[in-house]
Amino acid sequence: MIDRLLDFLNASPVNFLAVRQITKALEQGGYRRLDPTEPIGVLQAGDKFYVTKNDSSVYAFQIGQRPLADVGFHIICAHCDSPTFRIKPNAEMTCEGGIVKLNTEVYGGPIMSTWFDRPLTIAGRVILRGENAMHPRTRLLHIQRPLLQISNLAIHFNRQVNDGVKLSKQKDVLPILGIINSELERGNLLMNVICEELSKTEQVTADDILDFDLYLADATPACTFGVHDELISSGRLDDLSMCYAGVEALLASPVGERTQVLAIFDNEETGSQTKQGAGSPFLASLLKRVAWQQSQSEEAFYQAVERAFMVSADNAHAWHPNYSEKYDPTNHPVLGGGPVIKFNAAQKYASDAVSAAVFSEVCRKAGVPCQRFVNHSDVAGGSTLGNILASSLPLRGVDMGNPILAMHSCRETGSVADHEYCVRAFTQFYAE
Ligand code: CO
Repeated sequence: MIDRLLDFLNASPVNFLAVRQITKALEQGGYRRLDPTEPIGVLQAGDKFYVTKNDSSVYAFQIGQRPLADVGFHIICAHCDSPTFRIKPNAEMTCEGGIVKLNTEVYGGPIMSTWFDRPLTIAGRVILRGENAMHPRTRLLHIQRPLLQISNLAIHFNRQVNDGVKLSKQKDVLPILGIINSELERGNLLMNVICEELSKTEQVTADDILDFDLYLADATPACTFGVHDELISSGRLDDLSMCYAGVEALLASPVGERTQVLAIFDNEETGSQTKQGAGSPFLASLLKRVAWQQSQSEEAFYQAVERAFMVSADNAHAWHPNYSEKYDPTNHPVLGGGPVIKFNAAQKYASDAVSAAVFSEVCRKAGVPCQRFVNHSDVAGGSTLGNILASSLPLRGVDMGNPILAMHSCRETGSVADHEYCVRAFTQFYAE
């Protein structure tokens, strides 16, 4: 099971590629793509379909035996974006000796120092000229070799480097793409490598390329480590590990009474307020369309929302053996201790006593241990999907996630056992 997660992480360097991996897995599991520009059509119990938005969010449904209005739906949500660096337009900067660096901007909140001195690559989507102006074509791109590096300044130029360094997002983190061989390459190095990669399947020239959404990505594959291979070293565990646990659970779930929903959103790391983010009304309108198909009434949708339950799955902070003072004295989940329910008195998390009770019972029935997280009261902490989704869908639900170390590092640390626990807990949840 862990090998499937590692394969998924390696094939998903950024949101667009993650969504493609998820839709591929769904199709292999019998889910059909539904085009939201077409009517949803008649829905039967056991129908399996998915819808995507912007190629970077995906919503999968397995229709239950009873109408949404009568039993609601069970939804797991997670996010497929992770902190990284976005390549700016006109990115190439040719410097002394023909060395080319790329102009980038920060996406989300990475621990920037972790991106230094490691092989990186480029991934995302490239937009090609289409049949007309309104319908350009999209090609996904993942260059699977070391292509760039953000190099540190030698310690001899900064003797205080180990006392902490303030980093500029504009100056310090620009990656080196290579050295030009000839004047012909000046200003064209990035486009050349993009065209070369895309032309492996279909001839593409720079003239065909209208624009792109491209990001830096770690070029080193995810792996397990530890004496017992009990830990995971990978970028983007937050939140691709939760996305994949959701996919595994949905594909393992038979048709039940309730409709099962998996929603993978984009842009959580930048606040979710996009058409493909959890702040979008898109999921609510999909659910409304499904409920209407079943009952020909808007009332059915509102009943379904009242009966529904949401698991908002986003990784939690595991207790770090070097920094115990940062954690709450009595609630500090550990790696390998099972899924974590997150609480916050200011309601940054959706969990309350009722929803936590529901989820911990689900875990108990699945034979899975369950932990609880609260911030150290002097530490601000983060937020996640649950409450943002609640603004368009006021669902009863819980914020949870598997514990990891070094959240938003280029290389986070997770637990093999926790992944297996989480898939079991999610599968049990869909069966409830
Ligand atoms: Co997250």
